[in-house]
Amino acid sequence: MDWTTKHLTDQTGKVFLITGANTGLGFQTALELAQKNAHVILAGRNADKIEQALSDIKHTVPNAKVEAGIVDLSNIASVTIFAKSIVEKHNRLDALINNAGVMFPPASKTKDGYELQFGVNFMAHFALTTHLFPLLRQTPNSRVVTLSSIAHKNGVIDFHNLKLEKPFDKFREYGQSKVADLIFTLELQRRLEKNNLNILSVGAHPGISKTELLRTDKPEMIDEFPHMSANQGAYSTLCAATEHIEGGSYIGPNGEGEMTGLPAPAFISAYAQDETIGKQLWEYAERELGLRFL
Ligand SMILES: NC(=O)c1ccc[n+]([C@@H]2O[C@H](COP(=O)([O-])OP(=O)(O)OC[C@H]3O[C@@H](n4cnc5c(N)ncnc54)[C@H](OP(=O)(O)O)[C@@H]3O)[C@@H](O)[C@H]2O)c1
Repeated sequence: MDWTTKHLTDQTGKVFLITGANTGLGFQTALELAQKNAHVILAGRNADKIEQALSDIKHTVPNAKVEAGIVDLSNIASVTIFAKSIVEKHNRLDALINNAGVMFPPASKTKDGYELQFGVNFMAHFALTTHLFPLLRQTPNSRVVTLSSIAHKNGVIDFHNLKLEKPFDKFREYGQSKVADLIFTLELQRRLEKNNLNILSVGAHPGISKTELLRTDKPEMIDEFPHMSANQGAYSTLCAATEHIEGGSYIGPNGEGEMTGLPAPAFISAYAQDETIGKQLWEYAERELGLRFL
């Protein structure tokens, strides 16, 4: 099926939480879900930007059920506080969409000392998923959708370079963070199955989509490649978050090199599927964060 937002079904009664929802893919995902009557929590680090996003959605969808969530994913303490507030306020979470991300920032670390891309793109989302797990568990047929990238193909996890121990290589470190997201998606699914839990873990990637992702590098670089609008880029996420698909699925655009197109099963590197690496990365995150998950 050529899946487009025309196929997005009514989401009345469902609650979605999207990180990085003030702009780019996260915003488009929130907008489309709000149009289908979902309750959407738009999470972002900047209160003004999130308020603007809420008001933009309400402009298009006057009775949208949207709310703001403030979280800085470069600070694990902020993730913990935010997640607690969500658990206190809500009694269901149908889908957690781990969308926020950074690409090619200058060499820098998160508050907790991780290389920025690894820390924001992976560690913070691992922590967030852990803290929101009770809510996902009490919601029938809930799911976790995590954004990866074509760039995962070249990614490997160097356990001796997660805290910027080696000279910064923006390509290598971005690939590392995005393969971590996909490894997490698959390892989470394995653990959910082992525990007989009725929650799905699925991945998505937007090919190449015109967003603010390259804002700290060379934003014009995107024009050198075939690319899509942010709205079409969000199709993979929307499909992964709402369609009947199997746990462990990875959805991306079906065109050449998966750069553009409509949602379809996407290529997953052998490295990302390696169960030994999956277990090792999972245990690393648990140990570092002092969290026990599944
Ligand atoms: N666009 C593509 O072609 C492409 C390709 C492959 C994968 N992806 C993935 O898609 C996801 C969304 O990216 P995008 O393209 O939509 O980029 P974007 O337009 O730059 O949006 C990124 C979002 O993440 C948020 N964010 C960044 N650092 C954060 C932090 N420390 N705390 C909280 N939020 C933070 C940003 O908030 P601020 O606005 O406040 O910075 C923004 O809302 C990312 O995971 C990215 O890796 C994108």
